[in-house]
Amino acid sequence: MDYIIGFGGKKQLINKMNKNKIIKDATKLAKIKLAGGCPGHDWLHTYRVVEIAKKIAKAENGDPFLVELGALLHDLYDWKFTDPKLAKIKINKWLDKYKLDLVLKEKIAHIVENISFHYDRKNNMKLWEGKIVQDADRLDAIGAIGIARVFSYGGYKKRLIYDPIFKKKISPTSIGHFYEKLLLLKDKMNTKTAKKMAESRHNFMKKYLKQFFSEWEGKQ
Ligand code: NI
Repeated sequence: MDYIIGFGGKKQLINKMNKNKIIKDATKLAKIKLAGGCPGHDWLHTYRVVEIAKKIAKAENGDPFLVELGALLHDLYDWKFTDPKLAKIKINKWLDKYKLDLVLKEKIAHIVENISFHYDRKNNMKLWEGKIVQDADRLDAIGAIGIARVFSYGGYKKRLIYDPIFKKKISPTSIGHFYEKLLLLKDKMNTKTAKKMAESRHNFMKKYLKQFFSEWEGKQ
């Protein structure tokens, strides 16, 4: 048996089998909902986020159940692909069948609701477990995987790879997305563990961009 602490320190009993069932069902749900999505924003992205989040949770004292569930559900409520209001209603309805304690349900909804990063939006994530999932999601957006994902998403949106008319700064091209978002993520990590992991991924992107522009100008 396992316990979670609710409001006022009240202990809520939660059966371990029930937890395992929720994780199993959430995995199934994420696989179904994210199948056939834009490559890089599909189930395999969620799979990577779960693995990274679990690793961070261990080092940073996060509740493993909440972190794993949050990571599994994090992209079902994504402003880029779905109607946020509709997705939230759907997630709450899905959680209803487990008769979870209200605090736990609120926590899960809070994580799923606040996970997405938009450069002009404030980060409203209040839960440590949510911050861990956010870090894992951000880590998967940078480095070698991040580079693969930005061009995959650009293709999906029919964006140009690059156009010299925009110089190297923010632009509606895939290269522009590095300057608009990806190069800023290293400094947005919440946990020490993620900050450390972000270093080499960030440096790899900088090296990649240097090579990209050098080739673009025919220097190499
Ligand atoms: Ni994600």
